[in-house]
Amino acid sequence: MSLRVPNHIAIIMDGNGRWAKEKGMPRTYGHKAGADTLRKILTSCGELGIKYLTVYAFSTGNWKRAKEEVDTLMFLFKTYLKNEKKLLMKNNVKFLVSGRKEGVSKDLLAEISKLEEATKGNTGITLNIAFNYGGRAELVDAIKEIVKNNEKEITEETVEKYLYNQLPDPELLIRTSGEMRISNFLLWQIAYAELYFSDVLWPDFDEAEFNRAIACYQQRHRRFGGTE
Ligand code: IPE
Ligand code: IPE
Ligand code: MG
Repeated sequence: MSLRVPNHIAIIMDGNGRWAKEKGMPRTYGHKAGADTLRKILTSCGELGIKYLTVYAFSTGNWKRAKEEVDTLMFLFKTYLKNEKKLLMKNNVKFLVSGRKEGVSKDLLAEISKLEEATKGNTGITLNIAFNYGGRAELVDAIKEIVKNNEKEITEETVEKYLYNQLPDPELLIRTSGEMRISNFLLWQIAYAELYFSDVLWPDFDEAEFNRAIACYQQRHRRFGGTE
């Protein structure tokens, strides 16, 4: 048992649509509230000394949604990229995006690059946003690159070298909204992650609930296939 905080936390930020529906509002209202929750949880992570936070913001499966919702999610992400720079710089946050470029508009890709570039020297927490991300797509893309580069010796390290961002594996994966599935998130990286499912919908997820997840993680016995 270890009382250490995780080095890397991954979160499936789920439940925005249901949260909005409960309030008689359009789903997009929930996505706006979700962005505010992310800001708060990022601050909590910084205070706890967590080094990496990866959040699932848009999956390769989310293209199936109504065009209006997809357009709003794209717009909200672009707004986030533009408005968040000052705060990320102030808090020494390094910003990264994991995901496929295909399908994402040129101007959104340009905003992503600008923010990654502006924050690349920051030495505090790394915020990695999974956007147009799919775990299977990431592995397919890695395999394509491995073949293209004519890699001769294929080890786990070889595969890891070709994943979107070379971050250490998350020790803790949190999913909100009561759903107990992975939905194609970080399939490779969560091989030994501790899983925590919260019933709280993402816009209502707060510091207290986040602390409960971490406290639960601290009670877990991690064995990695071995014995204690
Ligand atoms: C998560 O909330 C955000 C995205 C997937 C973009 P949802 O939009 O999935 O909300 P629910 O699950 O329908 O309530
Ligand atoms: C996973 O949530 C994707 C994100 C949180 C971005 P979904 O709401 O899309 O997943 P399913 O459809 O419930 O599996
Ligand atoms: Mg959902």
